[in-house]
Order: sequence, then C-alpha cells, then structure tokens
Amino acid sequence: MRIIKKLSFVLSTVVIISCSQKVLQPKLALVSKNNLETRVDSVLKLMTLEEKIGQLNQYNGFWEITGPTPKEGQAAKKYADLKNGLVGSMLNVKGVKDVRALQKIAVEETRLGIPLIFGFDVIHGYKTISPIPLAEAASWDLSEIKKSAAVAAEEAASVGLNWTFAPMVDIARDARWGRVMEGAGEDPFLGSQIAIARVQGFQGEDLKARNTVLACAKHFAGYGFAESGRDYNTVDIGESTLQNIVFPPFKAALDSGVRTFMNSFNELNGIPATGNKFLQRDILKKEWQFDGFVVSDWGSINEMIAHGYAKDSKHAAEIAINAGSDMDMESSAYVEHLAVLVKEGKVKESLIDDAARRILRVKFELGLFDNPYLYCDENYEKETIGKPAFQEAVLEMAKKSIVLLKNDKELLPLKKSGLKIVVIGALANDKTSPLGSWRIAADDDTAVSLVEGLQQYKGNKLSYVKGADVAVGRTQFVWETKINTTDKSGFAEAITAAKGADVVIMNLGEHGLQSGEGRSRTEIGLPGVQQELLEEIYKVNQNIVLVLNNGRPLAIPWADANIPAIVEAWQLGTQSGNAIAQVLYGDYNPSGKLPMTFPRNVGQVPIYYNYKNTGRPELPEADSVFWSHYIDQENTPLYPFGYGLSYSKFEYSNLELSQNSFAGDGLINVSVTVKNTGKYRGKEVVQLYIRDLFASVTRPVKELKGFEMIELQPNESKKVSFVINKKSIEFFTANSKWEAEAGDFKVFVGGSSAQTLESNFQYLNN
Ligand code: NOJ
Repeated sequence: MRIIKKLSFVLSTVVIISCSQKVLQPKLALVSKNNLETRVDSVLKLMTLEEKIGQLNQYNGFWEITGPTPKEGQAAKKYADLKNGLVGSMLNVKGVKDVRALQKIAVEETRLGIPLIFGFDVIHGYKTISPIPLAEAASWDLSEIKKSAAVAAEEAASVGLNWTFAPMVDIARDARWGRVMEGAGEDPFLGSQIAIARVQGFQGEDLKARNTVLACAKHFAGYGFAESGRDYNTVDIGESTLQNIVFPPFKAALDSGVRTFMNSFNELNGIPATGNKFLQRDILKKEWQFDGFVVSDWGSINEMIAHGYAKDSKHAAEIAINAGSDMDMESSAYVEHLAVLVKEGKVKESLIDDAARRILRVKFELGLFDNPYLYCDENYEKETIGKPAFQEAVLEMAKKSIVLLKNDKELLPLKKSGLKIVVIGALANDKTSPLGSWRIAADDDTAVSLVEGLQQYKGNKLSYVKGADVAVGRTQFVWETKINTTDKSGFAEAITAAKGADVVIMNLGEHGLQSGEGRSRTEIGLPGVQQELLEEIYKVNQNIVLVLNNGRPLAIPWADANIPAIVEAWQLGTQSGNAIAQVLYGDYNPSGKLPMTFPRNVGQVPIYYNYKNTGRPELPEADSVFWSHYIDQENTPLYPFGYGLSYSKFEYSNLELSQNSFAGDGLINVSVTVKNTGKYRGKEVVQLYIRDLFASVTRPVKELKGFEMIELQPNESKKVSFVINKKSIEFFTANSKWEAEAGDFKVFVGGSSAQTLESNFQYLNN
C-alpha cells in the first residue's frame, strides 16, 4: 500500500516538474519589506479565511510515517489541498528533490504562493547520527551538546528542511517510559541548561542562514509523567510539580529564543494538552509572551475524541484552536472544519488570524518569503551530508556521553598489547542498533560497530562470538510482538571462547529500537537471555568488561554485584564503536555523569534524586515498619543521579562559604577544592546542590543548582567556585509565584548527588 502511494506521488511530481520550467518567482517576494510585522500583515490582508486556515494545516509527506498510518486515499486529497493553498507545512519529506517539488507547488501553483515550512524529527542527527539525547545529557558538556545540535541543523538544512521537532525537554523519572531516551533526564536545572544549548545549536544566530533550522520545544506539557511509564498514558500531577519540575526547561527554551512549541498526546489533570487553554493560552502565550507558534502532536487534535474530550473531529478542532494550538499535524481537523466553525460563530476569526500570523511570522524569520528555495540546493546537499567534520563532532560527543559505572581491579583502561580479548554479544556486531529509534533518515548498517571500533587497536588478539541475539525481529515502526529471543543455541560457543581470554568484553543491553516512542517496558533488566548469558560467561571467566547499550536506565543489580567493570554506552550514533573503543583503551578518559537515576529494580520506579522527604523518612525505632520504605528492597538507587567514575580519582575538600547568610539580592560564594589523586589526566563534573529545609510548599531533599566541568592532571588541585543568590533558591511558592522565601538551607558540593560535602546557610529576607 505504501509503495503504491509513493509511486503515485513520484509520478505526479515528475509531471509537475516537467511542465513547469519557468523561472521561480515567489509571488509575495515583493511585499513591503519595512518590518516583519508589516510584512506579515500585508500577507494576511490578502488571504481568504480558507487560505489562512490552510496555513494552520500540516500534512505528513506521502510515504514516510512517524505515527499511525494515514487512511487510504488520503494522498490524493492532500495533494489537491496543497495545490489549493490549504497546506502551510509538511513533515517527513526527505531530501532536496522532494522538498523542492513540493515547495514549487506551494509557491507557483497556489493563488498566493506562500512557501511551506518543512519539518522533520531531527532528534539527534539527520543522516549523521549523534548519541541519543539522554546520552548527550550524560556528558554535562553544554558546548559539545550545542555543537552536536548545530551539526544536525546544518545537515538537515542541507536537505531542504527548515524545522526540527526537537529538543524534547520533557522531564522524566520513569525508566519504563521508552521516550526517556529523547530527553535530558530527570532534573529541571540540567534539563534547562541542555534545552538552551540545543535550541541555540539548532537555531544558531540567524534563522535565515543556510545551516540553521527552527527548533521546537516539546511536548507541552507533562508528557514525561505518563502513569506507569506507559507511553501516551494519563498524566495527573499537581501544580507544584508542574511549575517547579515540568515547566522550567520549556521556559528556558523559550528564553533562549525557541520559535515553536509542540503540545502533547497526554491529558493533564483531565484535559488533553492539545485542548488545554491553561497551558497554551494562559501560560505560554500570555504569561510567557510566546509569539512563535504551537504545533499539535501527530493527530493529537482528533485524539481528543478517544480521550473523551471532544465528540467528533469538528468539536476537536473547535477546542484545539480556542485553546491555542496553532498548527494541526495530521488530523485534518482544521482544514475540514474551521471555516464552518467560524461561520457558525463558534470560533472567532481573530483566533485564526492570530494563529496564521504566528506561522507567517516564523516563515518570514526563516527567510522563506525572500527565497523559498534557500534550502534547496542538490550540490550543497551532496557536499554536506555525512561530511568528515560531522563525523568528528559526533565522535567527540559520543566519547563524552559514556559513563563509567564500575571499575574494580582497574580492569580498565585496557592494555594496548599482549591481550587475548574475546567480544561477546549481538550488539557488538550491530551496525544499526547504535543509531537508536529516531533515525528516520539514516540508513541501516551505517554505524561503526563495537567490533569495528576495537579492530582499530591492532596490538591485541581480538575475536568475536555472538552468544545470543537481543530480539527476535525488528522494523522501524512496527515492533514484533515477541521482542525478546529465547534462543540459547549460541551459548556453548561463547563459553568456550571466553575460557581462554584475558579479558571478555560483553556488549549487552537493549537494541536501539527497544526504546523510543511507543516502546515502554515493564521489565528493565537486560532483555531476552542476555542476563543468563552474562552469568554463564562469568562462571568461566570473571575478567568481564560489560558494555551496556540502552535507551533508558536499566536495573542490573547482579552485574553491579559481580562484574568488575561496567561502561554505560547508551546508543551513541554513527561513531559508536570508535567512541567506546577509545574509552576502553583509555584514549579518552570517561567523564560522563548519569542524568537519570538507575534503580535496583523496576519496583522502585519512578525513582529520582530530588524526591521529597515525607513525614516518615527514617526508621522511627528498631524493627518498625512505619516509615516510608520497602520491606524487600532499599530505598537507595543502584547508581544515583550525577554519578560517574573516571580513570582518575577525584578528592573533594575545603567546602567554604563566603558568608553563612545573605539577604535580598546579595549572594554567597561557595568554593571547594578538587584534587586528582589518580594516575591519569581527567575531567570531573563538580556539582552543587541545595536543600530548602522548610517552605510554604515542601521542597526536595536536594536540588541541583550549578555544575562545572574541570580538567586536572594527576596530583593537580583546583578551587571551584559557585554563586548562590536569590535565583538559586526561588521556587513556585504557595502564593502561586516564583519567589525566594527566607529560611534555612543546606548546600552540598560533590561528584554526584549522593557523595557530597555539606554546609549550611540562611536567606534572611526577600
Ligand atoms: C509523534 C511524536 O510524539 C513527536 O515527538 C514527533 O515529533 C511527531 N510524532 C512527528 O513525527
């Protein structure tokens, strides 16, 4: 079916191109150039109601899908709408040739010739794939993250795209949720810093430049809090969590200039986000003064029917536009119903004008009215895709994303000669899995596998045995029901090989397609028979380096208790194998820190470092059960937020505060000395947390408020300083305002959220 659709589209494209050879001249290029708003208004004035609604309509390309498959026969209707000026944007169109063909229809065949915006999920790269965003977050390296987004933007813009549906800035605490891979983890402070870096990386200084794209802060809001970690599930959270945890990265993205927002599939406290006036009108457009536009998520306007919030598509369109959703992605609800709704008086035309104005404004900002084909140059596309500078950038990013979880016996770094190394695990030889699940434009088998990366080091004797598969089968958007293989027929060969090795590198974990949208899990251990394989190999050889690939925190208590070296290598993208090999051999000293807590088992989930103390945080008396705990497991995680080792060792001392209190707009300088007591030069992310001991709304036991990455030679010490001011202690108080409340605080500084030096201070008034 999809092939037929594709063919019919390709045929029509050919016809259009061959009978339309005239010089391309956007009809509106000559509108007043005075200022942006005048230009926008001058276009708006020429438009009929239907044409304005057309700007609010976004269609999927005719064959690629990133949501439920469109109904049959839609291609012809979409195509007709496009020619009639009833489409404002398209998504999932790949490559200059197709972008140009569709843009040409919009510019030359519609009455007003308004150019389209082309959007695409460039989540962590277009064809050159960088690490999944959760992995990038583990680098805590904002300039590298910004660079990675800039690389993605440059490559995406070279294929004709003007808009990426990234960054996803949803805070997530539940490892069962498959989309934790797409965000920056559990913390609003780190999440905000990363949101800024990614928006700046994608959008650059100038949206009209040929190497930048529009960014999109998504999913507004609360999507990361789906009940039981099941994607698309209900979200029910209080105002304090919404304001203090969920909103900050969105606000940070907005303050750094993000020009679009995407709303989300979930309902929030009984109201679907797509139809949520509080979120989109009261907060985003009124309080935060956002003047870009909001796109719905895929089909989320019509999904309000299934939510039980709209009685039919027409009603859904009415709710969504009134609530402030400006562009309809793939529901066709706006293009089908808005004109009638305006005529019936159910929707004010001024709201349509406002939405169309927002979209046109962004089109002007992109320079599309000046040159709709700015992004359509096939030679430039060829020169740009996959260029060596991109490979270098994603390799750098990948190395910095790796987190060393355990290194007993100093098994790592590996010696460069004289070792017999056996590599085990299907993932080690997989050239697709490292690309992750959001890599719709990247070709299969284009990542450097771990085996290939290790082969670059010629001094050791290297062999590879699969041992076991990870999953039964895979396709990008349809997942086999039986995801985990039970086949153990490869065990014997792997056991024999492991027996004679000096070191066994086991590359286990999730396939890239086992996390991402629609891929929630109820078990978060090693999928399939991999745990069994690990234990069998351990019986014959204990010198194991476990390299994990995964898109979410995994629960691996047995490995933590038994395996001497564990390396968290996520899904690291195109250069994955090279990055891991360089870390294993010590050519890059690991510096990553976890952006999300790793639980001991799935029952602890959601687990996060910035939890609330509760009224019963401790054992009141010996053997009492009446405190907040489990009777079968500790409360503490396996690996805490902010945790990550290095081949160096860092010692923290001399936590000093310039004063123990401050008032009003004053500040306290906090400093600490960090010394590298190890043998290797290394990087450390020094983290500062605070705790507000009592407040008008209960506060978390720790909140990250600052971090700095330093690099130290062996024996070198550095004094690292942070500032605590009013902003550091502000939160959304019982007065429903962001304010600083006077009171007592603790401050912690260390190399993770769990290992910290501690002191106290007071805030005297506001
Ligand atoms: C649905 C996802 O939730 C969203 O993040 C994505 O951008 C759209 N599909 C478009 O593919």
